[in-house]
Amino acid sequence: MASDHLDSQTTRAEDADAAPARAEASDRAMRRRDFLALGGAVAASALVRPGFANAAGFGDRFVWGAATSSYQIEGSPTRAGGGASVWDAFCRRPGAIKDGSSGEVACDHVNRVAEDVALMRELGLRAYRFSIAWPRVMPAGTGAVNAAGLGFYDRLVDALLAAGIEPWVTLFHWDYPLALYERGGWSNPRSPEWFAEYTRVVVQRLSDRVTRWMTFNEPEVFIILGHQLGVHAPGDKLPWSEILRIAHHVLLAHGMATAAIRASARRPCEIGYAAALEPAIPVTSDAADIEAARRATFSGVAAWLLDPVYLGAYPEAERKAWGKDVPKFAPEDLRTIRQPLEFFATNIYQGNVVRAGRDGAPERVPRPQGAPRTLMEVFDVVPGALEWGPRFYWERYRLPVAITENGISVADWVALDGKVRDPQRIDFMRRYLRELGHARAAGVDVRGYFAWSLLDNFEWAEGYRQRFGLIHVDYATQRRTLKDSFAWYRDVIRTNGAGL
Ligand code: FCB
Repeated sequence: MASDHLDSQTTRAEDADAAPARAEASDRAMRRRDFLALGGAVAASALVRPGFANAAGFGDRFVWGAATSSYQIEGSPTRAGGGASVWDAFCRRPGAIKDGSSGEVACDHVNRVAEDVALMRELGLRAYRFSIAWPRVMPAGTGAVNAAGLGFYDRLVDALLAAGIEPWVTLFHWDYPLALYERGGWSNPRSPEWFAEYTRVVVQRLSDRVTRWMTFNEPEVFIILGHQLGVHAPGDKLPWSEILRIAHHVLLAHGMATAAIRASARRPCEIGYAAALEPAIPVTSDAADIEAARRATFSGVAAWLLDPVYLGAYPEAERKAWGKDVPKFAPEDLRTIRQPLEFFATNIYQGNVVRAGRDGAPERVPRPQGAPRTLMEVFDVVPGALEWGPRFYWERYRLPVAITENGISVADWVALDGKVRDPQRIDFMRRYLRELGHARAAGVDVRGYFAWSLLDNFEWAEGYRQRFGLIHVDYATQRRTLKDSFAWYRDVIRTNGAGL
């Protein structure tokens, strides 16, 4: 299934191309987003960039934020009059979640909004990115609205605005209504309309105050991990042709929801689509290596889910490579999918270092032995991704770039003196932010950075074994403890990144 324009083993996008054929053999080993990260490489030189200075800061329009998602922090909607999501069901499958846990209670955020918003204010956040749980708002996915569920987000928005924090709302961060899954889920051709209906309900209620919207969080991840590899909810293992049909419906849902936001929003708004990306980083500044990295960045599943949204066409190389598996669709679908957007949102945790191989084809540079890693098996430390990703995306799509997630899982804990020391998180964020500053210095219109995450939370199939937060959560008591990185990030925000 390898696309014909890349050597095998070159980029993670190519790995995703190869995934259909390999799925059965490797799915047991596949966890989380291995499909994006297989063999992620970094040259030592990409980690340390001596002499880089960030005196310019990030400019007046830059938004400093933090992000979370509904199922990971709120507690299940079923505890408060909402419907179940595919994650509620998936967590009950024996062996699905590494520590056997679920998001049933998570950070109990629904009952602790006041405390959590007060902490955001203390952090000095300018913006908070959260997602709305579709089944909390519409228990059956369509039709009847759960007033208490919608009311919860209404109060959250009010609390944020009262604290001087701008809400950035994601409409879908993976917690798909179980009732709709039982009607075929994303395979059902009506699914885009279901999503647009839900979008209208939310936008009618919140758009007098919310002006920043994102339709989807990481379509790559829930489509592949959830529907092809079966390691995320809903846990399906569908053939590649069905995955591409689902992808087409998700893209249509994005387009229809974007149009629905424009049509029903009460104030002018900015809309984005938050992709999970692992850009390629050229190993040297030679034109050939840069071109190889550019090609690797825009190939495979990444290009498949970006180009229709931003350029109105599926990428040609993948269309050819995937041939008969590509669904038939009406030409106007692409016009529906490509809606004007105001910013390019992307979640970036890492990237792959690439050089020009034979005939200029991208070739992955092996990661040095012992190179820095994170607690999360599939995420390596590759700060250069925050320079080269924004550069390439800006160059191709010409939209201001917002990093809607970036962060690290560290094995931190509350020390005997009550403090949580997480120097690795501080160093990680500092390195990545400096690279983002570098992108800005190279002329990219970089508009924002959202730390993942505000709080430690339920990390999907990893359960509670990963801690990504700036705030430590003791799940037994729900006690929040500010980590050292919290104080550090507060200073970064206060100084607009001047001291990085
Ligand atoms: C991203 C997800 C987010 C969280 C982080 C660690 O892929 O969007 O929910 O799991 O990774």
